[in-house]
Amino acid sequence: MSNKTKMWGGRFSGKTAASVEAFSASIQYDSRLFRQDIAGSMAHAKMLARQGLITDEELGQILKGLSEIRAEIEAGTFVFRPELEDIHMNIEKALADKIGDAGARLHTARSRNDQVNLDTRLYMREITGEMIELITAVQRSFVGLARTYLGAVMPGYTHLQRAQPVLISHHMLAYYEMFGRDKERLVDGLKRINVLPLGAAALAGTGLPIDRQFVARELDFPKVSANSMDTVADRDFIIEFCSTGAMIQIHLSRLSEELVLWSSEEFKFVELADAFCTGSSIMPQKKNPDIPELIRGKSGRVVGNLMALLTLLKGLPMTYNRDLQEDKEPLFDTIDTVGQSLAIMAELLANMTFHTDRLEELTGGGGYMTATDLADYLVRKNVPFRQAHSIVGQTVAYCLKEKKELTDLSIAELKEFSATIEEDVFAVLSVQGSVNSRLSLGGTGLKRVEEALAVAEKDLGMVT
Ligand code: ARG
Repeated sequence: MSNKTKMWGGRFSGKTAASVEAFSASIQYDSRLFRQDIAGSMAHAKMLARQGLITDEELGQILKGLSEIRAEIEAGTFVFRPELEDIHMNIEKALADKIGDAGARLHTARSRNDQVNLDTRLYMREITGEMIELITAVQRSFVGLARTYLGAVMPGYTHLQRAQPVLISHHMLAYYEMFGRDKERLVDGLKRINVLPLGAAALAGTGLPIDRQFVARELDFPKVSANSMDTVADRDFIIEFCSTGAMIQIHLSRLSEELVLWSSEEFKFVELADAFCTGSSIMPQKKNPDIPELIRGKSGRVVGNLMALLTLLKGLPMTYNRDLQEDKEPLFDTIDTVGQSLAIMAELLANMTFHTDRLEELTGGGGYMTATDLADYLVRKNVPFRQAHSIVGQTVAYCLKEKKELTDLSIAELKEFSATIEEDVFAVLSVQGSVNSRLSLGGTGLKRVEEALAVAEKDLGMVT
C-alpha cells in the first residue's frame, strides 16, 4: 500500500518498509477489540453530530457503515490488513472505503491514543464481569463440597506436618474466602477502569467543541478522566488487573498443589474424576492429575505477564509512547489463561470425591493431632499453658516410645504426667471432641462451620 492511502500518509513521500509494517502491526491480536472499537466510534460520532461537527446525515452513514463492518467481522468475511497496523485503522479505512467523506470525518477530535485506551477499558469492563462469574463458579464448587462432606474430618496441616483435626468443609470454605478476596479486588479495579478517556485526544485535549460528558453517558462511564496527559499515558488499570489475575492464578496454583498431593497414593485423600485425568503412554497403571499440574504451571506465564507490564512502564516518559502497544498481549494472555484455569477448576472440583473413611482413620491415628486439646484441657484445670505444653510434650514422647496413641493411654498412665488429669480427658482426646470444641469465631467447630456455610450459600445464591 502506498503511504498516500494510509490514514497518516500525508507527510510521507517514501513507502514504509515491509519489515516495518510487519514489525509494528498489532492487528493479529488487537482485532479482538473490534466490538469495543465500534461501540466507542458510534458514541463519538453521535457526540460529533450533537455538537454540529458532522451532519445528522453523515452520522446516519457512519452508524450504518460501522454496523455493517461489525457484522462482516462477526461473519468472518472482513479482511484484516496488517499494513493498516491496528484494529482502529482497519475499521476506519473500511468505513472510509464504504461511505467516503463521512467516514473520513469520524476521527475528528480524536486520536488513536485516547481511542485505544477507551477500547481497552470497555473490553476490560466486560471481562471483569466474566471473571467474577468464573470465580463464583469455583466458589460454588467449594461450597458444594463443604455441604456434601459436612461433619467429616481430615488432618489439618502446618509445615505440611499433621497439626490438628479439621472439618473437610472448613478446608473447602478456606478456599471460598480466598477466592472471595479476588472478587473484591476485581470489583475494586472497576472504579479505575470505569473512567472515560476519550476526549484526551493525542495528549493535550482538543480545540474543537466536544462534549465528553455526553460520550460518558452514552458508554455508561460514571467518570470522565481529569487530565488529558495522564489519560493517554495511563496503563495502571491494566497492571492492576494483571496483578489481580496473577493473584488468582497463584491461588489456583496453591490449590492445584494440594490436589496433586491429595490424589497421590501416599495421601489418597481425594479421587479426581477420570474425565479430568490422563494416562501415561508407557505406564499402563497411571492416572495423572494433569489439570492441576497445568494450572500450577501456567502461573509462570501469568506472573510473567505482570512483570512484563511493570517493566514496560518503568522508563516511559509522558505521555503516549508506542511501547504501550505492548500492553495488549500480556493482558490478553492473562485474561485467557486465568479464565480457562478457573473454568476447568470449577468443573474438576465439582467432580471430585473425598475418601472420608481413610481421612477419618488418618485423623484419629498417628500424628497426635489432639495434643493441643490435651494442653487446653490442662489449662482449663488451671495449669499454666507453658507447663501444660511441656507435660503434653513428655506424654507424646512416652507414646512414641511405647508406640501408642494418646487415646490408648490408661488414666493411670496419664496421671503419671499430671495428677490433674481425670476420666473426662477422653472426651477431648477424640477427634470429634477436638474438632467440635473449636467454637471460636472462624474456628473449625461444626457449629461455626455450619454458620459459615449458610452465609456462603446465601452469598452465592445456593439456598434452595
Ligand atoms: N496500536 C496502537 C496501540 O496499541 C494504537 C495507538 C497508536 N498511536 C500512535 N500514535 N501510533 O497503542
